[in-house]
Amino acid sequence: MISAVDRATCAARDAVDPLASVREQFVLPDDLIYLDGNSLGALPVRTPARLAALVEEEWGRGLVHSWSDAGWIEAPARVGAKLARLIGAGSDEVVVAESTSVCLFKLVCAALAMQPDRSVVLTEEENFHTDVYVAAAAAQLCGATVEVQPRARLLDALDDRVAVLVLTHVDYRTGYMHDMRALSAAAHDAGALALWDLCHSVAAVPLQVNADGADMAVGCGYKYLNGGPGAPALLHVRAGLHGALRNPVPGWLGHAEPFAFELAFRPASGLRSMITGSPHILQLTALESAVDLWLEVDMAAARAKSVALTELFIELVEERCARMGFELASPRDAARRGSQVALRHPDGYGVVRALAERGVVGDFRAPDICRFGLAPLYVRYVDVWDAVDHLHQVVAEGAHLDPRFAERAAIT
Ligand SMILES: Cc1ncc(COP(=O)(O)O)c(C=O)c1O
Repeated sequence: MISAVDRATCAARDAVDPLASVREQFVLPDDLIYLDGNSLGALPVRTPARLAALVEEEWGRGLVHSWSDAGWIEAPARVGAKLARLIGAGSDEVVVAESTSVCLFKLVCAALAMQPDRSVVLTEEENFHTDVYVAAAAAQLCGATVEVQPRARLLDALDDRVAVLVLTHVDYRTGYMHDMRALSAAAHDAGALALWDLCHSVAAVPLQVNADGADMAVGCGYKYLNGGPGAPALLHVRAGLHGALRNPVPGWLGHAEPFAFELAFRPASGLRSMITGSPHILQLTALESAVDLWLEVDMAAARAKSVALTELFIELVEERCARMGFELASPRDAARRGSQVALRHPDGYGVVRALAERGVVGDFRAPDICRFGLAPLYVRYVDVWDAVDHLHQVVAEGAHLDPRFAERAAIT
């Protein structure tokens, strides 16, 4: 079939793309079309040298003095302040710590402690499973319960029992983006706090957490941020709540005077009280190097390209892969879509595996979603064209039906 958009058109768009040169700042194999930056972001070119200096100089020569001389001890707050600029928060409203799951646990407990006369953590069925597990465990420890509602019932369920509404801003499967401002306002109208998981939002879509009414937020460093596998997470709490914060895992580095070695816990002021133990300096340094790159990028330009890439992907699939069993799972309205395109297909797992064998990396989310992350800093318009071309070939040739794909790998 002849498409209205051809490869040459895509190449022409790359030639005038204001972000085209940013791709050179990433290590990307020539023979790969990488559409999985929503799972693990690509490696920034600058990061290996930064890590080598950290290991050889700061750790190797500076040894224990590097905690102060190289600024290690300040890293959670320093990197947090940089991340705050990316999410529309104040510089003292974000720290970096542990993982999204652990930060979420801390914040759900803290939110419940702030609302002692309320006993429900409200979330939705579509939420990422870790968020539901963590919310349920935190609720149980705090004498509360978690209520998991279908998306359409969330507003009705927001009543005076609810202490905190916990939602993932951009749906990990479909890329559906909640209206943070409207839902935070609805939570506040019901007297509840609003806690947002930004895993698929941070560095994927422009964020203004304070203006949009988020009370608290978490988000991971290894997806669109490109902070590396296992990068620590961001933890945000708006300043007005800092005085009431209680860390459920209090540790010495969240103490007002860690080196006073007092046995009674006296929290540090502000968000520092949410830090528990020694920061993961190797990972934090990799994350900081990636965040520094992001701070050089115009987020509005990144969003404009992300929207253009997702629109192109959808348009090409609908033109070139019609009647091949695909159904768009992502919102058609770009304003409600993150930086990914999700397609349902009855043999979706085979499709994703067959694509990977041709050098097109997406991923699969059960039960039937093929997920393609279009990270605007390094995905080109021609990559989208080539990926959809492969998608068409895979299904036309039946490559996705190979019996080897009947069994699922541990990581899909
Ligand atoms: C929406 C969402 N929340 C939470 C997590 C868990 O993050 P972590 O494994 O860093 O705790 C993920 C991981 O992919 C996620 O996509």
